[in-house]
Amino acid sequence: VEIADGVIARRFSAIDPVEAITDLLHLAYAEHAARGLRFLAAHQSSRVTAQRIRRGECWVAHAHETLVATVVLYGPKSTSGSPWYDRPDVASFGQFAVHPAWRGRGIGDGLLQLIEKRARDFGAAHLALDTAEPALDLRAYYERRGYRLIEGAQWDCVNYASVILSKPLD
Ligand SMILES: CC(C)(COP(=O)(O)OP(=O)(O)OC[C@H]1O[C@@H](n2cnc3c(N)ncnc32)[C@H](O)[C@@H]1OP(=O)(O)O)[C@@H](O)C(=O)NCCC(=O)NCCS
Repeated sequence: VEIADGVIARRFSAIDPVEAITDLLHLAYAEHAARGLRFLAAHQSSRVTAQRIRRGECWVAHAHETLVATVVLYGPKSTSGSPWYDRPDVASFGQFAVHPAWRGRGIGDGLLQLIEKRARDFGAAHLALDTAEPALDLRAYYERRGYRLIEGAQWDCVNYASVILSKPLD
């Protein structure tokens, strides 16, 4: 699928190198780490990347041969750990990253539209995500795309309070 000018998204396949996705995540999330927000994706090993990919449906986006973006969609059965996440009609996503040199071209937007459609295919009524409570720029990014604050959460694997945002899928 073409999600932005010259950028093609497709499902991750077993022959794709997980290390390249890990490198992209580390690079994309470095800005948060620099501000003291230790997102898991900023430092996770490729083993963890592979585990998270297997838990959901991973998409990768390439421009020519270059990996420029990725996201993992988790169906309702793989979405849990908070009251909202535990609902049977809520899907979620994570490991969402666009290469810093490729930002602001609608690639993030294109991936979100793609997984919103896939979440509907899974029978979900809502697509949710969690992010750092202090990351106001990210929260505004999602709010401009229809995601609303649902609840707070506290996870052991990160050093910040989280918020869960969610968008109804019609
Ligand atoms: C969040 C992220 C995936 C968005 O990717 P993207 O492809 O830049 O997204 P889009 O092109 O759809 O939109 C970019 C937004 O930033 C603005 N922008 C423009 N140029 C930009 C640039 N060079 N860098 C960053 N943002 C830019 C755009 O105006 C747009 O704002 P809008 O909401 O008013 O439309 C990307 O910034 C990223 O990888 N961030 C680091 C990892 C991360 O935070 N992931 C989510 C964790 S919950």
